[in-house]
Amino acid sequence: MRIGLLYSRMRVEEKWIVESLERSGACYDLIDDRRVALTLDDPAAWSGYDVVLERSLSYKNGLYSTQVLNAWGIPTLNMYHVAATCGDKLATSVALARGGVPQPRLWAAFSPESALELMEQIGYPLVLKPVVGSWGRLLSKINDRESAETVLEHKELLGSHQSAVYYIQEYIRKPGRDIRTFVIGDETVCAIYRSSDHWITNTARGGKAAICPVTPELHAISLAAARAVGGGALAIDVLEHPERGYLVNEVNHTMEFHSTVPLTGVDIPGMLVAYALKMAHGAAKLRTTTGRRIPERCIVEPAMAASVGL
Ligand SMILES: Nc1ncnc2c1ncn2[C@@H]1O[C@H](COP(=O)(O)OP(=O)(O)O)[C@@H](O)[C@H]1O
Ligand SMILES: [Mg+2]
Repeated sequence: MRIGLLYSRMRVEEKWIVESLERSGACYDLIDDRRVALTLDDPAAWSGYDVVLERSLSYKNGLYSTQVLNAWGIPTLNMYHVAATCGDKLATSVALARGGVPQPRLWAAFSPESALELMEQIGYPLVLKPVVGSWGRLLSKINDRESAETVLEHKELLGSHQSAVYYIQEYIRKPGRDIRTFVIGDETVCAIYRSSDHWITNTARGGKAAICPVTPELHAISLAAARAVGGGALAIDVLEHPERGYLVNEVNHTMEFHSTVPLTGVDIPGMLVAYALKMAHGAAKLRTTTGRRIPERCIVEPAMAASVGL
C-alpha cells in the first residue's frame, strides 16, 4: 500500500501522522500542496497512491486536489464531496437537515437589505457567520438592530465574494462551553469540552479544553452528523441547548487534534492512518474484483461501503 500525505505545513498533527505512517509499515510520500500539479489527462504521477490523506491548510487546495484524485479513482481522507459539504456552513446545514440531525435554526440571505429584514423578523441575539471560514474568525453576535446595521454595512463594503452570503443562526445560550467530538468511520473516538468566558469557544481563540465523556447520546448525534455529510474522519461542534439538548453547529473535515491527543490519550493520528489504509484496501478490492473505480460519492462508513460492494 502506498499513501500520500498532502500537506501545507508540517504542524504537530502532520508530524504525528508521519510517525504513525512509519509505525504502520506502509510506503508513504509527503506531498507539499504548493508543488502539486494536477491534470485530468495524465494521472500517472498520482496513480501510485492507494489513498491520499488530505491535510492542506488551504480549503481550496485540499478541495480541488481531492476532486481530481477522486475522479481518478484514488480515495482520499476525506473524500471530495465530504470536504465540499463541510467547508461550506450552509451546505453543511442542508446536509444536516436532510439527515434529520438537530442543529440551531438558521437562515440565509444574499443582500444586506434582506438580511436586515430577516433579522428584524427573527429577533435578537443572532449570529452572523461567513459560510467558509474557521478558528472562530469573522463571527458576529448581533444583539440589536443598530449592531446589525453596522455589521451588515462593514460586510458589504469590506467583504469578499463569499461574504455576500448572509448565514444567520439563532444564538444558543450554551453553558460557557461547547463540545468537540471526533468521529472516525463509525466510531466517536473521543470528545472534549471547550470552555471560555467568551461566547466563541474555539481553542484557537483561547478556549480551554477538558475531557468530555462520550455518552451513547453524544455518540448517536455525532455519528448521525458524520453520516449526513458523507462520513470519514470528522470533528463535530456540538452545542448544548438548555431545553433542546445537543445541536450540531458545524462539521470540520480536516481535524486538528494537537490539544486533544495529549489530553485524552487517544491516538487520533494512528486511527487516521488505519482508516486511510482501510479505505485503500476497499478501493483496491473494488478495482480488482469488478474493475470499477470507487464511486464519486463513495460512502466510507463500513456498513454503507458493504452495500456498494467494497
Ligand atoms: N449559534 C451559535 N450560538 C452560540 N454559540 C455559537 C454559535 N455559533 C457559533 N458559536 C460559537 O462560536 C464558535 C465558532 O463557531 P463555528 O460556527 O464553529 O465557526 P468556526 O468554523 O470558525 O469554528 C463555536 O464553537 C461556538 O462556541
Ligand atoms: Mg467550529
